[in-house]
Amino acid sequence: MEFYTVIEERRSVRSFRVDPIPDDVLLRILEAARKAPSANNFQPWKFIVVKDEEKKRKIADFCMGQNFIAEAPVVIVACGLPTPSRIGGYTTSMLVDVAIAVEHLILAATNEGLGTCWIGAFDNIKLKRLLGIPDEIQVVAVIPVGYPLRKGWKTPRKELEEIVCFEKYED
Ligand SMILES: Cc1cc2nc3c(=O)[nH]c(=O)nc-3n(C[C@H](O)[C@H](O)[C@H](O)COP(=O)(O)O)c2cc1C
Repeated sequence: MEFYTVIEERRSVRSFRVDPIPDDVLLRILEAARKAPSANNFQPWKFIVVKDEEKKRKIADFCMGQNFIAEAPVVIVACGLPTPSRIGGYTTSMLVDVAIAVEHLILAATNEGLGTCWIGAFDNIKLKRLLGIPDEIQVVAVIPVGYPLRKGWKTPRKELEEIVCFEKYED
């Protein structure tokens, strides 16, 4: 797919066909995440690929009962590792680093004809317990991945003039 078509086509998909994702396709989207940039190139991430039905159901439960998550053939749990890198002197780069890698994965998935949904509403503690994630590592995002059941809708965006200003901050 042409790059800007990928950008246009991506949307949050919340219903999936049962068809499995071929291993080579799954590997390509994980590879796209691996290529993401990160502060100091520390790559403070780990991606847990979950296909087990029972685990997917529990994950959906721990994502505030968003049951569509368990419908996806694959659920990827993106974790952030501790990193000494700071941004702007006020926070860790970890969330930014992992977010970039997740978006790489999401755009690559779109390019493969797959649908994804970034899930931020989850119980970190319960997910960590379920997946054996060590204390110092945090869940950053849960991403159900599968072939979309429906296509074609679009969510609105602010106009460019509202979000871009020149030379100084303007309301
Ligand atoms: C950090 C983050 C957290 C999100 N959490 C959820 C979520 O828990 N459940 C959900 O259905 N969608 C979630 N979304 C998806 C947004 O609702 C969606 O991106 C937004 O409405 C724009 O729609 P679009 O992705 O289809 O363009 C999340 C997106 C982001 C970036």
